[in-house]
Amino acid sequence: MDMSEHSKLLDRIRSHEARVGVVGLGYVGLPVAITFAEAGFPLLGFDISRRVLGALREGRSHIMDIAADRVRRQVDEGRFEVTDDFDRLDEADAIIICVPTPLSKTGDPDVSYIVDVTHHIRDRLRPGQLIILESTTYPGTTRELVQPTLEESGLEAGEDFFLAFSPERVDPGNPTWHLENTPKVVGGLTPACHELVAALYGEAIETVVEVSSPEAAELAKILENTFRAVNIGLANEMAIIADRLGIDIWEVIDAAASKPYGFMRFHPGPGLGGHCIPIDPHYLAWKMKTLQYRTRFIELAAEINAEMPRYVIARVTEALNAVRKSLNGSRVLLLGMAYKPNVDDTRESPAIDILRLLQQRGAEVRYHDPYVESIALDGTTFASVPLTSQELGRCDVVIITTDHAAMDYDLVLEHAPILVDPRNAVGKKEGAATVYPLAGPPRRGRQAAVSG
Ligand SMILES: NC(=O)c1ccc[n+]([C@@H]2O[C@H](COP(=O)([O-])OP(=O)(O)OC[C@H]3O[C@@H](n4cnc5c(N)ncnc54)[C@H](O)[C@@H]3O)[C@@H](O)[C@H]2O)c1
Repeated sequence: MDMSEHSKLLDRIRSHEARVGVVGLGYVGLPVAITFAEAGFPLLGFDISRRVLGALREGRSHIMDIAADRVRRQVDEGRFEVTDDFDRLDEADAIIICVPTPLSKTGDPDVSYIVDVTHHIRDRLRPGQLIILESTTYPGTTRELVQPTLEESGLEAGEDFFLAFSPERVDPGNPTWHLENTPKVVGGLTPACHELVAALYGEAIETVVEVSSPEAAELAKILENTFRAVNIGLANEMAIIADRLGIDIWEVIDAAASKPYGFMRFHPGPGLGGHCIPIDPHYLAWKMKTLQYRTRFIELAAEINAEMPRYVIARVTEALNAVRKSLNGSRVLLLGMAYKPNVDDTRESPAIDILRLLQQRGAEVRYHDPYVESIALDGTTFASVPLTSQELGRCDVVIITTDHAAMDYDLVLEHAPILVDPRNAVGKKEGAATVYPLAGPPRRGRQAAVSG
């Protein structure tokens, strides 16, 4: 091994002289870039989106969790530069890859973004660079896909350049846990790679958790997200069970959660969303298929979670039926398009599935979301309508698809005739509306009492 490249880079990391390149400046990449810039590293961000680059160059932030003034300060102080010129990849001492890892149309991993970026890096790779993959992916990606591609340059991993995987755990909208204080798992390809990746993150993040290989780090990330997908699936099935039994699921969860050990609270809801939980487990399922193993927990959880939007539609149909109305022709207002509260991200949002199912059944659908101005669906653009007593009053039914904290639920309870609340946003609150929780009997409101 060329100890001099290794120790030179280690010195540059420790002195914060190392230039950090971040490829892909989205929900993950931008916080990573800003965190390293704030830690004093010169930062070079790469993206292919003109919208993203334009905003960042002007010191604006396109990610809700990153305040614009944090971006502006780093840009103004000359520590954060962004570009779409991949020839500049050789200026970076460490390159962190944060590009998307979605599913293809057939539900298989789409690693084409990682492949593209790896090709860009291969063509400019120079001795002494540290390459870190952060995109969530199946175990083996770093060693089986990234390493051989980079070695096509003639340079050898662990000898001439260094390679590692470090999963991203950022939780958009989380006020407590952010990049700096969330422990960061790292796994290097060789001991030299390992030392460098641990050193780099150690300069910007409070706690670094070292595992012995990139595969262990890759699988740790998928375990975390599979754990959530499976437990949410269990909570959803329990909600369906509680409904059949005529029991209030939220009361049951509160009771179970009073156990001080051995139980962890997970919430049922209208379905899974976001770029991670519904997608990441399928990366592992796909990998295991190549090894003739069926990941049954993943399949079952996905099946139950994917059915939840239809379950909500059944609930809405039941609520309308009780007042002798059909879904066809009914006016429906969805509250929330984002996949989870207090974020503007609509990727894989169950609200979109619900919107589509309602449309297919002939309902007249509108939505309100303080964070999502408009949404394009199957060739139609929907714009968020203001949340007013008139808007609520003209509806036959209102559905709380996302429990944003900024929503005026008292107004909703006062003016919606029927409220379907799969998120338990209004809890046991009383109002004029009749409330259908995700599971269990409806609570008749004052409006129903007046009209008999
Ligand atoms: N969003 C989350 O909460 C979260 C959490 C943990 C892990 N992850 C993982 O992180 C990765 C990135 O996710 P994200 O949510 O940040 O995605 P994102 O879509 O918000 O951002 C990706 C960025 O990469 C850019 N990009 C695409 N192709 C590129 C290319 N060839 N070269 C340079 N830039 C390119 C896009 O323009 C975009 O700005 C995924 O693997 C995801 O699973 C996401």
